[in-house]
Amino acid sequence: MAEYEYETHEYDVVVVGAGGAGLRATLGMAEQGLRTACISKVFPTRSHTVAAQGGIAASLGNMGPDSWQWHMYDTVKGSDWLGDTDAMEYLAREAPKAVYELEHYGVPFSRTEEGKIYQRPFGGHTTEFGEGPPVQRTCAAADRTGHAILHTLYGQSLKQQAEFYIEYFAIDLIMSDDGVCTGVVCWKLDDGTMHVFNAKMVVLATGGYGRAYFSATSAHTCTGDGGGMVARAGLPLQDMEFVQFHPTGIYGSGCLITEGARGEGGYLTNSEGERFMERYAPNYKDLAPRDYVSRCMTMEIREGRGVGANGDHIHLNLNHLPAEALAERLPGISESAKIFAGVDVNKEPIPVLPTVHYNMGGIPTNYFGEVLNPTKEDPNAVVPGLMAVGEAGCASVHGANRLGSNSLIDLVVFGRAAAIRAGDVVDRASAIPATNTASVDKAFDRFDGLRNANGGTPTAELRLEMQKAMQADAAVFRTDKTLKEGVDKMTAIAGKMGDLKVTDRSLVWNSDLMETLELDNLMPNALATIVGAEARKESRGAHAHEDYSDRDDANWRVHTISHVDGPKVDLSYRPVVTDPLTTEAEGGISVKKIAPKERTF
Ligand code: FUM
Repeated sequence: MAEYEYETHEYDVVVVGAGGAGLRATLGMAEQGLRTACISKVFPTRSHTVAAQGGIAASLGNMGPDSWQWHMYDTVKGSDWLGDTDAMEYLAREAPKAVYELEHYGVPFSRTEEGKIYQRPFGGHTTEFGEGPPVQRTCAAADRTGHAILHTLYGQSLKQQAEFYIEYFAIDLIMSDDGVCTGVVCWKLDDGTMHVFNAKMVVLATGGYGRAYFSATSAHTCTGDGGGMVARAGLPLQDMEFVQFHPTGIYGSGCLITEGARGEGGYLTNSEGERFMERYAPNYKDLAPRDYVSRCMTMEIREGRGVGANGDHIHLNLNHLPAEALAERLPGISESAKIFAGVDVNKEPIPVLPTVHYNMGGIPTNYFGEVLNPTKEDPNAVVPGLMAVGEAGCASVHGANRLGSNSLIDLVVFGRAAAIRAGDVVDRASAIPATNTASVDKAFDRFDGLRNANGGTPTAELRLEMQKAMQADAAVFRTDKTLKEGVDKMTAIAGKMGDLKVTDRSLVWNSDLMETLELDNLMPNALATIVGAEARKESRGAHAHEDYSDRDDANWRVHTISHVDGPKVDLSYRPVVTDPLTTEAEGGISVKKIAPKERTF
């Protein structure tokens, strides 16, 4: 057994992750007087939320008529009817409140002439329950909205005396024998010390796992650490086969060009100079939802109408827009286009390609943020002491496809919801759980095994194999053949985890070891993705299966539940929540209105 000395910390609540969801949860907990620690492997304002550009959806109605019911309808339709209706109602209904709170906390939103929060159009956001024209619903701070939110929430959390443990890597959850989460074991990266955090509530806000793929808009830190910890605790992941490709990653680097660029009037063209989205989506054109636009771009390229020497990408045109509008509304992407594509957006189109951007799936939760461990008898069974929010979680408000700008609002609505729930369920008077040494020892054993790994495969080599397999076989379009190949490849790749080679055995700033721990987290996420995709014999949202091109509600309107153990994935299914929280008479939407139908744009 590996022996590591450790320091013990005690809190009411420990939040793991300091992106938008983690910080909003931290702030909400601390505001209620809960003793709250926030642990982050990077400095909070470097969390991936900082890269969120275009904005945050909420039906403020500042630029024209809007309502939370329309927002809810668009979210249901955007999810291709796989989202949970209760959670989607909660998201849309709470969104305006959550945005006004951000405004009052100090987020420097862009403004209209009258001084209201500026809102821009984004794909899939419409009026009149999908029958009317696009709506301007996405609240923006130029094209640096995530940056503005993150800095504000960090400052506010400090003001509320939340305590931050920065550059601490969470190794594993501490679980009691009867399945209660009682804390988390961490490694402090800059001095190599070990730390045990005991808490009444642990909140996982660790972000997505975009780095399971070769080309992603996600930061290199997006390694699905929460999903990895949950899988090792024997808990499930949900709907992992639904991976979003953002239509406009810069060709080559994968760097994000916000959908706000199309919201401000940008458009896509093929090698014939044609605005091809007019053909595929006559009503919403370039502002159709992301899954659809990504598929259309891929079809144009496949049919020989891609641009560039190899005909393998598409052009995003902004050069018809006034220079002042680009400078005011899109300064960040104008700079990115210059740096990463050598393009002056005032003069030339940007070369773009659909790029992995977001994981709709994650750790299953209810709309309070509580983690679920569904069983046949109780599909809504809660794991005591454990919550998950943001991209790490799956509430599920995005179902099979997320609408642009519904991510930032998910972060703050559910970060806030988790805090509200913790305020109710965390007993301030009870004792902090004692250290479960058996669970802590298990975490140190795994850590030590990886630290001393002495096989023949360097971490970077195996990671690249995984990323290439996922990129090739769990792509925008999938077939039985590619998915079967993907499962075989990924099973073999995961089987090589036992042959890893770590060359640095030190504990201080050992990036070799940290990347190995991250790979150990990415692996169950990637496996659940490819195995879940291979099993799902239909097309829905981001899962475009060429051998089953239609959505099959009779058989597949269900959430995929995956338990991952080493290279093995066990799948089961749980029902989608189809009932809203409120009836039409109470001001909500009727079940009939949101019943599944064909998704047209
Ligand atoms: O295009 C974007 O600005 C990204 C927004 C989002 O993913 O919600």
